Amino acid sequence: MILLEMEKINVKSAEGKLGVLVVGIGGAVSSTFIVGTLAVRKGLAQPIGSITQLSTLKLGKGNDVREPMIKDVVPLAKLDDLVFGGWDIFEENVYLAAKHAEVLEDKDLNGVKEELEAIKPMKAAFDNNYVTRLHGTWVKDAATKWDMVEQLRQDIRDFKANNNCDRVVVIWAASTEVYVPMTETHMTLSSLEKAMKENSLEIAPSMCYAYAAIAEGAPFINGAPALTVDMPAMWELADKHQVAICGKDFKTGQTMMKTVLAPALKTRMLGLSGWFSTNILGNRDGEVLDDPASFKTKEVSKLSVIDTILEPKKHPELYGDIYHKVRINYYPPRKDNKEGWDNIDIFGWLGYPMQIKVDFLCRDSILAAPLCLDLVLLTDLSQRCGFSGIQTWLSFYFKSPMHELDKQPEHDLFAQDAKMRNTLRMIIGEEVYDYMD
Ligand SMILES: NC(=O)c1ccc[n+]([C@@H]2O[C@H](COP(=O)([O-])OP(=O)(O)OC[C@H]3O[C@@H](n4cnc5c(N)ncnc54)[C@H](O)[C@@H]3O)[C@@H](O)[C@H]2O)c1
Repeated sequence: MILLEMEKINVKSAEGKLGVLVVGIGGAVSSTFIVGTLAVRKGLAQPIGSITQLSTLKLGKGNDVREPMIKDVVPLAKLDDLVFGGWDIFEENVYLAAKHAEVLEDKDLNGVKEELEAIKPMKAAFDNNYVTRLHGTWVKDAATKWDMVEQLRQDIRDFKANNNCDRVVVIWAASTEVYVPMTETHMTLSSLEKAMKENSLEIAPSMCYAYAAIAEGAPFINGAPALTVDMPAMWELADKHQVAICGKDFKTGQTMMKTVLAPALKTRMLGLSGWFSTNILGNRDGEVLDDPASFKTKEVSKLSVIDTILEPKKHPELYGDIYHKVRINYYPPRKDNKEGWDNIDIFGWLGYPMQIKVDFLCRDSILAAPLCLDLVLLTDLSQRCGFSGIQTWLSFYFKSPMHELDKQPEHDLFAQDAKMRNTLRMIIGEEVYDYMD
């Protein structure tokens, strides 16, 4: 492998408490993330699925090659220093929320019950126009969306002060909002702020949270597919306050498989004529996505993957005519245990057709929780490194990685992994690997 020299990065210390403010803290993903993290730090569970906690990082060359744990060489915040808080449209504490989510069993909840009961959501910035299937009872009143931002900013300041936190990260793991397309309003900071003051319909609640976080100097992670922080106006704000942002839409089950299989087909120059993906799930996320307007947001995110990986313009004979369909069906009996089917029609030598079938019986929140933990720790790291704006090196974690308008996102899971590892090497002053040896 070729090793490249990189400049040394000055990383601020991870000393002190790191506030983790979760939007949608009463949800299945959020509660599973929090329960698991608390259990791991008490030594009651293993952090399975977390790269920061379990993976190693290859360093050096020749006889000098070594492979320490990432958490032993990268200056990440310690799990003991995390303090959880957040917002939800329902008042129940995280213990009750986790019970209702029915993802984890009592045996997993009981060991951290007291800590969970002590985590109570702050009132949410919520508007039924953007999530039509839920009817929140624990929501803020505000004259305008701009006033809503002010209230959220105050929440962040209060949380930081009351919990003696040095830093705060905000992560959106709340319901998927209806599709809000990017318009002129989202292109500049001044037009975004004007729209907030005028209570424009183009401003969704998630944008209020994102604005508040960035203005308070807190990195913002978007785990859902909505526009939220993925627009030039928010990038301008992030640049102004020198804050790290990333998103969007956690890459968990079906899309993770897609971003493994599609590069395999491309590497072998096998053709693709159709990819039909369907899911059944019965949790609250499934109920929200049953609304066609919320599903549209998810659909756009899930569909973006294949084209970028297969590059149909370069290979029209292989990928010029693909039928790609994604369906999500709400089916209550399955609760959080989603089943995702993929039927993939491919073709090989002389155009002869073949099929691949994937049936992934997964658990949505079990897959998403470790991504939340990694993203919180790595985005905090970015901020301490002085990396502001879109953190493309964290694309590994997202279905629809944010990128500047004139750039292409990286979707290939292993290429994303290589980029992330090289960034970690760079951060700790080690030579980066050029995997193209
Ligand atoms: N689980 C996965 O594999 C996965 C993958 C990618 C993305 N996601 C996304 O993560 C999000 C969370 O998924 P989930 O399964 O936990 O859903 P969930 O319905 O269990 O949780 C969402 C929570 O957000 C709350 N909420 C809604 N609007 C809010 C607002 N404006 N402010 C504060 N709280 C609000 C709800 O009350 C609920 O408690 C969804 O958007 C989902 O699409 C999940």
